Amino acid sequence: MKIVVVGSTGTIGAAVVRALARSGQHEIVGVSRHSEPALDIEDATATRAFFKAISRIDALVSCTGNAVFKPLAQLTDADFERSLHSKLMGQVGLVRAALEHVADHGSVTLTSGILAQRPMRGSAAISMVNAGLEGFVRAAALEAPRGIRVNVVSPPWVTETLEKLGMEVAAGLPADTVANAYVAAVEGTFQGQALNAVQFV
Ligand SMILES: NC(=O)c1ccc[n+]([C@@H]2O[C@H](COP(=O)([O-])OP(=O)(O)OC[C@H]3O[C@@H](n4cnc5c(N)ncnc54)[C@H](OP(=O)(O)O)[C@@H]3O)[C@@H](O)[C@H]2O)c1
Repeated sequence: MKIVVVGSTGTIGAAVVRALARSGQHEIVGVSRHSEPALDIEDATATRAFFKAISRIDALVSCTGNAVFKPLAQLTDADFERSLHSKLMGQVGLVRAALEHVADHGSVTLTSGILAQRPMRGSAAISMVNAGLEGFVRAAALEAPRGIRVNVVSPPWVTETLEKLGMEVAAGLPADTVANAYVAAVEGTFQGQALNAVQFV
């Protein structure tokens, strides 16, 4: 399969590229804002141009999108707008731009996160965006043409991220384990699902 992985240099994205490469069956095109060619999911026009140029793919995996973590009382209109524009509408825009370029029975896999189901103080904007992505995927899957599957992976806290943040790592899952859920979304038969990465250990 020809698979585009957006956010391929990130903690989760790099692990997803490694996991998908393991079978030796796929051609993987990793992209981010700093790749060549670059792809910025916040730029809808450039995103459409990217997929037009790449023509046909079998699968799209998005492991990216930014949202603001801040106490509710400190979240500004700009913080909400940034979270919606990047992680939510950036990934929705990816689907809208990519769908006509995905082969029959191909797939699109997005990324939400555990904070949709298990919020914490400071996660209001992120929890909102993650839940929005899961609702979008369930509905988009109903209308995806030509047997294309649309799913979203919900990662828990990733061990490497907790380490970087200087937080307790016990509750985390290594990125290489989280990647299993993305492989299942691409190579399996899931449709319209929010896949909890913890269930793919
Ligand atoms: N890590 C966790 O614990 C965790 C838990 C739950 C959910 N998530 C979600 O998983 C996703 C990935 O997280 P991560 O920790 O792997 O992030 P990360 O390590 O910061 O990596 C982000 C990746 O996305 C790319 N990127 C950033 N903004 C972009 C844009 N506008 N357009 C295209 N590419 C962009 C980055 O490369 P460039 O800088 O070159 O663009 C990089 O490849 C995020 O949506 C995050 O909310 C993460």
